[in-house]
Amino acid sequence: MSANGQPAPLLRLEGINTYYGQMHILQDVNLEVREGELVCLLGGNASGKSTTLKTILGIVEPRTGAVILDGRDVTRDSTAKRIERGLAIVPENRRLFGPMTVLENLELGAYLRPRADLQEDLERVYSIFPLLYERRKQLAGTLSGGEQQMVAMGRALMARPKLLLMDEPSMGLAPVLVERSFEVIQEVHRAGVAMLVVEQNANVSLSIADRGYVLSTGRVVLEGKASELLTHDELRKAYLGR
Ligand SMILES: Nc1ncnc2c1ncn2[C@@H]1O[C@H](COP(=O)(O)OP(=O)(O)OP(=O)(O)O)[C@@H](O)[C@H]1O
Ligand SMILES: [Mg+2]
Repeated sequence: MSANGQPAPLLRLEGINTYYGQMHILQDVNLEVREGELVCLLGGNASGKSTTLKTILGIVEPRTGAVILDGRDVTRDSTAKRIERGLAIVPENRRLFGPMTVLENLELGAYLRPRADLQEDLERVYSIFPLLYERRKQLAGTLSGGEQQMVAMGRALMARPKLLLMDEPSMGLAPVLVERSFEVIQEVHRAGVAMLVVEQNANVSLSIADRGYVLSTGRVVLEGKASELLTHDELRKAYLGR
């Protein structure tokens, strides 16, 4: 807890400007995720959502501004170092190892953790996703899309991250699985893990998030409590299409 009684910020982006060559993508982006919070990052195609996650992960370096992770300036730190400091990502397209079992995929997520904690970490993931325990010997490539999403999240959770980043978890899933994948996100949220989720599906993601940010051509144009953004006229017109 910080002095004002709010959970301490786990992640802070301060005045971030990110370029690809001469192209100015993120423009003075300020963003915060507090402990235990579920924050969604919304915006249309090419608005800079993935670039924001890449900036947080250190895959792209901002020209100016700072990335503060758990109170430390990590702006010039490698991705590996940031992962050691508690970041994890569920990548787009999930990237599971299909010919390996569910259990083996989960174990891969724990490679930075002490070996002795493996069983405890597994049990924690199984308690969030009991289905993964039932399917632990099944090859990941034979799971349904929604089940694979659970493995991808379970694998990220095996590293016991302080902050989990997700890029379009519902992409490519059938509507019924989209719903399931948001339930999975809620389960992880309830387990106390802070999350920053990139989504194009504003309605669904705002309905489960604590707060949200809306990007448009690399700028934060709206931010606030998810419940308020859901009823925000401008957002509805511009991003929710009604
Ligand atoms: N490696 C790169 N080199 C050059 N330009 C890039 C690179 N990566 C992204 N861009 C450009 O930066 C802009 C923002 O891209 P970004 O991937 O962050 O958008 P996004 O909001 O994630 O979009 P989407 O919803 O389509 O995934 C786009 O115009 C994109 O073409
Ligand atoms: Mg993207």
